[in-house]
Amino acid sequence: MHIDIVRGDITEQKVDAIVNAANPSLLGGGGVDDAIHAAAGPSLLAECRKLRATTHPDGLASGLALATGAGDLPARWVIHTPGPNRHVGQTNPKTLDKCFTNSLYVASRLGATSIAFPAIGAGAYGWAPEDVASIAAHAIHEWFELYVHSTSIHRVVLVAYNEEVEAAFRKAFDTPRTESQLVHGP
Ligand code: APR
Repeated sequence: MHIDIVRGDITEQKVDAIVNAANPSLLGGGGVDDAIHAAAGPSLLAECRKLRATTHPDGLASGLALATGAGDLPARWVIHTPGPNRHVGQTNPKTLDKCFTNSLYVASRLGATSIAFPAIGAGAYGWAPEDVASIAAHAIHEWFELYVHSTSIHRVVLVAYNEEVEAAFRKAFDTPRTESQLVHGP
């Protein structure tokens, strides 16, 4: 299994599944949620609205994950997972850990071979990037220890939108920047 840390926009990642730091309503929001819906086009919101009208009338609780199509995105699926919102007292790191592991379960069940994660929780939901990065690293490594020989996933991409998050991911996953990245950027 290969782990990449990249600086950029998750909507541009060439992977099978991209993970959305979703709003529990499943009806979009700001940040990653906004970028994914904007890039996917109206079909994504239409599919989410259908979920609200059928299987998920109350939306999706923090820590859970579900997949939809990806509309106009290069990915095949979007995996929506609401992170815990520190501003309303959701400060249990286990919930954030579940965002990563449940997204891997969902992607694996779909037969995805690659998945891209944003720094779930590190924006509007108020988690420190270094905490998100260490929770993500622990969750992802632990999951692959159990499933590396049975899952279809062989590439995990951590997408950092800014320098602080990139540094946090690199520290937590212990992957220094390559010589060319240092010289030419990400
Ligand atoms: N690609 C990759 N990362 C991004 C992008 C993007 N296009 N846009 C933002 N980010 C980064 C942010 O800089 C932050 O580091 O993703 C991380 C998560 O930020 P948010 O999107 O704010 O997610 P979160 O903190 O989990 O809050 C989710 O905010 O936008 C609403 O509807 C959303 O209610 C939900 C809440």
